[in-house]
Amino acid sequence: MKLEQYQQAIESSNIISKTDVNGIITFVNDEFCKISGYTQDELIGQNHNIVRHPDVPASTFKQLWQTILQKKTYKSTVKNRAKDGSTFYVNTTVFPILDEQGEIEEFIAIRYDVTESVRLSEALIAKDEELEDLNATLEKRVQEQTKALVELNQTLEERVKEEVEKNREKDRFLFQQSRLASMGEMIANIAHQWRQPLSELTITLYQMKKVYTKQDNNKDEAFEQSYMHAKKIISKMSETIEDFRNFFSPERQSDLFTLSSVAQEAIDIMHGTLERNGVYIDLCIKNDVKIQGYFNEFSQVLINLMNNSIDAFSLSKLKKKLIYIEIDTSMQGDAIIRICDNAGGIEAGILDKIFEPYFTTKHASSGTGLGLYMSKMIVNNSMKGLIIAENKNNGACFTITIPAVKE
Ligand SMILES: Nc1ncnc2c1ncn2[C@@H]1O[C@H](COP(=O)(O)OP(=O)(O)O)[C@@H](O)[C@H]1O
Ligand SMILES: [Mg+2]
Repeated sequence: MKLEQYQQAIESSNIISKTDVNGIITFVNDEFCKISGYTQDELIGQNHNIVRHPDVPASTFKQLWQTILQKKTYKSTVKNRAKDGSTFYVNTTVFPILDEQGEIEEFIAIRYDVTESVRLSEALIAKDEELEDLNATLEKRVQEQTKALVELNQTLEERVKEEVEKNREKDRFLFQQSRLASMGEMIANIAHQWRQPLSELTITLYQMKKVYTKQDNNKDEAFEQSYMHAKKIISKMSETIEDFRNFFSPERQSDLFTLSSVAQEAIDIMHGTLERNGVYIDLCIKNDVKIQGYFNEFSQVLINLMNNSIDAFSLSKLKKKLIYIEIDTSMQGDAIIRICDNAGGIEAGILDKIFEPYFTTKHASSGTGLGLYMSKMIVNNSMKGLIIAENKNNGACFTITIPAVKE
């Protein structure tokens, strides 16, 4: 009676089957039918391998049979296949049942369903792997992002630097523009104030000549020469003022001319001053090409340079004061003019400042510090050229390069 109750308790809570010694099913309980999907009729008389899953290797069954044929209990979690092809996992215990002689009579297998927990642990493992993968890619992504950020930072820094430099450039340009504007105004004023006295000077000069020739009735060659020279200086003065005024106007016309012609013009104008100061000019024309630009402005540059040399000579007691002017053409066809003196040169410490506006080492009454600044402006802007200063052969040497005229 009690035994029957035990049997019932076990049967209702477990999946139970029995087979004969050959593995042919002789009994299944309802739980077995439920999980396998077969009816009792379909199962009884069949080999137990009806629920075998193809995934399970043959060695597993070999081990099972080896164990139970040795009259030992076999315990394992087994993967099985139901009638509808679905998989279920059962924790299986197979007991051999022995007869009075101790021979195997049949096998009883008691199982319980562990499908859910197997599924769960499989899912867990999968999740674990997924997480690991995610972690790895995340690390890689973080590294990539960091690298991108670092790069961005660098380019940003460079861009900021560039912008700052551009701004500075703009500031400098604006500063120069305002300087130019005020200089333009200043020159316009001077032009206005000088035009009248200059024409008066011309008239006075003419009257002087008239009086002189009338009184003595003589034709003095030297007087005539001085008169012509004075007239030329006056007309050049008014022309120069006009040029400087025009320098600030964008509509003026540029010309084609040679360096030798502009050098000769400047020397002619400076003739008297040079002579008075005992300064000799040595003009050496090696190669003379046409250049494009503003003749009068450019002659002003050469006059500025000669005036600076004369100023420098006034401080020295040299016997032979010489300004050497050389005209040549570069390999690229650019026109080059060098104006060098032997007046002792420019102090090394100020070489990089002499082109700055208002920079002068001279007394306020003799120097404005604008000569070289204006010269550089004319060379750079009106002639599209370059001017550099250096010390050479015990003197200052200015080299002006004007680009070749493009055909
Ligand atoms: N040939 C030269 N020899 C020595 N110093 C020179 C010469 N030319 C220019 N300098 C120097 O450059 C400075 C600037 O010249 P410049 O711009 O013409 O202004 P300024 O003649 O009014 O002083 C001069 O004050 C002088 O110190
Ligand atoms: Mg000067």
